[in-house]
Amino acid sequence: MDVFEAIRTRRSIRRYLDKPVEEEKLSRVLEAARLSPSAANNQPWRFIVVTDPKVKERLRSAYNREWFISAPVIIVGCALPREAWVRRDGEEYWKVDLAIAMQSLVLEAWELGLGTCWIGAFREDEVKRALGIPDEARVVAMTPLGYPDEDKGPVTDRKPIGEIVSYNHW
Ligand SMILES: Cc1cc2nc3c(=O)[nH]c(=O)nc-3n(C[C@H](O)[C@H](O)[C@H](O)COP(=O)(O)O)c2cc1C
Repeated sequence: MDVFEAIRTRRSIRRYLDKPVEEEKLSRVLEAARLSPSAANNQPWRFIVVTDPKVKERLRSAYNREWFISAPVIIVGCALPREAWVRRDGEEYWKVDLAIAMQSLVLEAWELGLGTCWIGAFREDEVKRALGIPDEARVVAMTPLGYPDEDKGPVTDRKPIGEIVSYNHW
């Protein structure tokens, strides 16, 4: 699968087979995150891999969806803002860095036949409590990871290119 094919066919998966994710595949998706670019190459990220059902259960208070809690693996993408690059005008880039790493992870997972679903609508305080994440860290995204139990077909519901691209002016 080439990169464009992965981008074209990847979908958010909200049903997972009760089948474990092989260690090699898990290592590979984490490696994709590790190799991602970040502002000034600061790599302000930490990834928490949740496989223990008891720990997954503790995440229910943060995001209460059965398909999320019961997925074989949950990956929690965290940022350390103090490690991240800050633009001269004060604009912080840690969320951008994390988003890029998460997308690398998501696309590599898809290439390996694994589904993910970016989760943003969680209660950050509950994630931090459940996983012992320190105050100075921020939780940017979570995703379940596992073999899909649904086939949604390629992406179709996007705005047309003419609506989102312009040349040489807004
Ligand atoms: C930043 C971000 C936050 C998201 N948060 C959630 C979420 O909390 N729960 C959920 O089920 N899906 C969430 N999604 C998935 C989107 O709903 C999904 O990507 C979008 O509808 C397009 O569908 P597709 O991923 O299947 O192409 C999120 C996606 C992004 C990029």
